[in-house]
Amino acid sequence: MNRRTFLQLSTISACIGKLPIALAKSAAPTFTLTPKKAQMNIVGAEFPATDIWGFNGEVPGTPIRIRHGQAVDVTVSNALEVPTSIHWHGIRLPNAMDGVAGLTQPAIKPTEQFRYQFTPPDAGTYWYHSHVNAYEQIGRGLYGPLIIEETDPPKVDRDLTWMIDDWRLLDDASISEDFGAGHDRSHAGRIGNVPTVNGRFRDVIGVQSGERIRLRLINASNARNFSLSFGELTPSVIAIDGQAVKPYQTKKPIVVGASGRVDLILDMTGEPGSSHTVTDSFYRQTYNLIRLEFADKPLRESPLDTPITLAKPTIPEPDLSNALKLEVTMAGGAMSGLQRAKLNGEWMGLREIAQQGYVWAMNDIVGNKLDMPPLIDTNKGQSVQLTLVNNTAFPHPMHLHGHHMKLLSVDGQALAEPYWVDSPLLMPRQTMTLAFVADNPGDWLFHCHVLEHHAAGLGALVRVT
Ligand code: C2O
Ligand code: CU
Ligand code: CU
Repeated sequence: MNRRTFLQLSTISACIGKLPIALAKSAAPTFTLTPKKAQMNIVGAEFPATDIWGFNGEVPGTPIRIRHGQAVDVTVSNALEVPTSIHWHGIRLPNAMDGVAGLTQPAIKPTEQFRYQFTPPDAGTYWYHSHVNAYEQIGRGLYGPLIIEETDPPKVDRDLTWMIDDWRLLDDASISEDFGAGHDRSHAGRIGNVPTVNGRFRDVIGVQSGERIRLRLINASNARNFSLSFGELTPSVIAIDGQAVKPYQTKKPIVVGASGRVDLILDMTGEPGSSHTVTDSFYRQTYNLIRLEFADKPLRESPLDTPITLAKPTIPEPDLSNALKLEVTMAGGAMSGLQRAKLNGEWMGLREIAQQGYVWAMNDIVGNKLDMPPLIDTNKGQSVQLTLVNNTAFPHPMHLHGHHMKLLSVDGQALAEPYWVDSPLLMPRQTMTLAFVADNPGDWLFHCHVLEHHAAGLGALVRVT
């Protein structure tokens, strides 16, 4: 079965939302996440179930949902046959809790446990995922939502999380085992043939006219970026990568790069009984991701007009006048002019580098291991201004661990409203200037979240001491 066949299938299944674990009144809840093999029906009843790896046997894994100010307290109990770890994507947390096996902790071996404990400083929409052989482990389903509720959230009828992903499935709905394939490493990454929302292909979700939904989009794909349109509905963007932005309504597609998050307020302005398709048009083919079906009975006559503005982020503002200024150029991959780069400190021709499985470089350095000399080495409290230049033919969602960066300009054009990001998506040949305060001590990964690109050298370290 090819991608087209899957995309033309029409399956109707009820959307069963996962209920968040009940929140305790005073004490923060504790969670256990057991990564293990399980089976899940992704494509629909007419296909066999797919063997997946999931936290507590599910994809997405058990939602970790707490209130702002509470601690995350998660014990991971590894029931896989391979080592694993959990990274808390987008959280400014202590380095020892960052979950990067081989850098911030040893991998959690089969049958072993590890307890993660930290108090997230910022409310918002985040996610957790494996950080061992990520391109395989996330590709098999090892991820879940991490939601830190605001103290004073906007009033909505429903607060939904959509973890959007794509899977590379064979005819029998089993996962294609070609993880880390050479072509994916040097091109756009592992793009799948079965796009899903919360692990379901072509789902249908019931809504009501007049209903206000907060929709938390989290892109858990290995490589696929999404550009979502909501039919006749007009979403308002209220947060990007977990951090509040000044709300704005837009008819333009909502771009969610791999690993990125966008929070929307969606007022269900459709007619009772109507149906609206959510489409993705990031790549050449536009397809239906999920459908919204309006009930015959409206919830209310006109949408709510209560405020939707979230509290402003409380991330320290970088001081641009005293910033360490650095330009970082991404190069390599297919159709690039990269001739040579440094691997293990030595200049080599790209052919020789490719023979070892690497095809990308940042500032001519191939990021082939975790104990490399850092790309940025700075003191705690230093403001850093980073100009990222994507000198390649592919988009790259560039993720910095342990910090948020303020996006200041794109292609030399200053943004009217700069906003915080942890995974900015750089389109081919695009340049972005970002700034952050390096205030979190430790060695932090900075890498492309196209997981095959990271594995093929598009990664570096930021050291804060
Ligand atoms: Cu979301 Cu280094 O990862
Ligand atoms: Cu991260
Ligand atoms: Cu990339």
